[in-house]
Amino acid sequence: MKPANRTFIISGGASGLALAVARDLHSAGAYVSLLDLNADSGSAIVSELGNSRAKFFETDVSNTESIQAAIQGTVKWVKETGKEIGGVIAGAGVGLPGLIIDKKNEPLSIESIDFVLNINLRGTLDLIRQALPYMTTVKPEGPDGERGVIIMVASSAAFDGQMGQVSYAASKGAVASLTLPLARDLSKYGIRAVTVAPALFDSNMTKMMSKKVKQSLENAMEFPKRAGQPEEFARTVRDSIENSMLNGTVLRLDGAMRMPARL
Ligand SMILES: NC(=O)c1ccc[n+]([C@@H]2O[C@H](COP(=O)([O-])OP(=O)(O)OC[C@H]3O[C@@H](n4cnc5c(N)ncnc54)[C@H](O)[C@@H]3O)[C@@H](O)[C@H]2O)c1
Repeated sequence: MKPANRTFIISGGASGLALAVARDLHSAGAYVSLLDLNADSGSAIVSELGNSRAKFFETDVSNTESIQAAIQGTVKWVKETGKEIGGVIAGAGVGLPGLIIDKKNEPLSIESIDFVLNINLRGTLDLIRQALPYMTTVKPEGPDGERGVIIMVASSAAFDGQMGQVSYAASKGAVASLTLPLARDLSKYGIRAVTVAPALFDSNMTKMMSKKVKQSLENAMEFPKRAGQPEEFARTVRDSIENSMLNGTVLRLDGAMRMPARL
């Protein structure tokens, strides 16, 4: 599918990897509906891109009503522009490290587990679930009768999570493993599902890492020995949208890095 003149719903689009996707799709002529908790960054990005093809909805993806309001706002915008929904990029995500049992023999709090799962897993599925009724009714396009594409974001932690990453790895492993059944459920509608699993990429999330932690992750990369750039992530998302043979799969984007147990 060509992104031009289609509307893409992008959660987490106010920062990092999903922001790079928003900029890239917008540069390709797409309309971008950005859903994020961070209203200041969201408004700044709409100012940067211009409000004719970009809209921001302050959204908490762990809250069903909040997603519903953003989807309804997007659908209203789509009715005004006539640019049908082409896809969802579920980029919102958080990490909250914690050992399952700590040095004081305290188990990981259920609140911290819920926080990560509610945003990374439940928030991803809820966003997709609520967008789908509007995607299945889009006029099919091209010789394959394609209607849309769902892009999800896992992580290297889905496969080789490190110490302290049980919640994060559980959320990202679940996103990776739901990719195929999602593609199977949606095949009759001409909607594809692809998950990208990045290793270390420069973003606000990784800016919070200490120099030592970042360096040790870069050392674990085979080649190139550096953090990925958001634009490199966006390129893979663009290809996943444009290349109809990519479906039901998880693309590792990791410089052959396999994370060690500990840093
Ligand atoms: N950067 C990396 O190295 C890396 C590696 C693997 C996976 N990922 C994944 O990529 C995705 C994007 O991460 P990033 O690195 O760009 O991080 P980031 O912190 O730069 O961006 C994440 C965005 O999600 C938003 N967000 C957080 N909670 C939200 C909520 N409840 N509702 C709506 N929006 C919310 C934040 O406000 C932020 O704008 C995440 O799912 C992350 O787990 C990142």
